Amino acid sequence: MGDDAKRAAGRAAVGELRDGMTIGLGTGSTVAHFLEALAESGLQVRGIPTSDATDAHARTLGLQVLSPDDVDRLDLTVDGADELTPGLSLTKGGGGALLREKVVATMSDHLVVVATPDKVVDQLGRTFPLPVEVIPFARGPVARTLVGRGYDVVERDGRTDNGNLILDATHPDGISDPVAESAALDRIPGIAEHGLFIDLATVALLGDDDGGVERRTAVR
Ligand code: 5RP
Repeated sequence: MGDDAKRAAGRAAVGELRDGMTIGLGTGSTVAHFLEALAESGLQVRGIPTSDATDAHARTLGLQVLSPDDVDRLDLTVDGADELTPGLSLTKGGGGALLREKVVATMSDHLVVVATPDKVVDQLGRTFPLPVEVIPFARGPVARTLVGRGYDVVERDGRTDNGNLILDATHPDGISDPVAESAALDRIPGIAEHGLFIDLATVALLGDDDGGVERRTAVR
């Protein structure tokens, strides 16, 4: 699906907002459309960006930007995804912002996903590798641990906004039990965060190339 579908989804997310809200600003090309529509809407909303790129874009558009130190809770976050299941479990991190994205999502009462229908999958990890953010010191041990868990591991070029590296981890069978896998990855020292977002998303807005948007809520 093309950029028109992403634009439809991103712009529709403005309909989830109310004046005075404090929100999380996700990262990616679909969220970029949301930011532009938010700026055009004139809504009085303050936001915490989840990446340096989103921070710069939001400031350019004249949006009010906060840091996580400034607030206890967020009304909602609008963010993209790389894969989503009907229960709205996600893989995220294609844009490398997964660590800040998860911090902000867990501060939020709701996570609104903006995406396209081709990203809906029955099983996570089959169409997109799982991004794992790792502190540089732990690259070797974490990579070996992931290989031991059955993943093929490829290190991404560059560093994240947090100075870490990303290992893209592909399992030949996909991720059959995302809850258990998420918990297991949480316990590996040196992993700063991984791209499994479980029980966080509450709404998905799926845009299509004709400008239509399907609104889905989590089936759990
Ligand atoms: C960044 C992300 C993005 O939200 C995800 O990769 C989707 O991006 P796009 O909207 O460009 O398809 O997780 O870390």
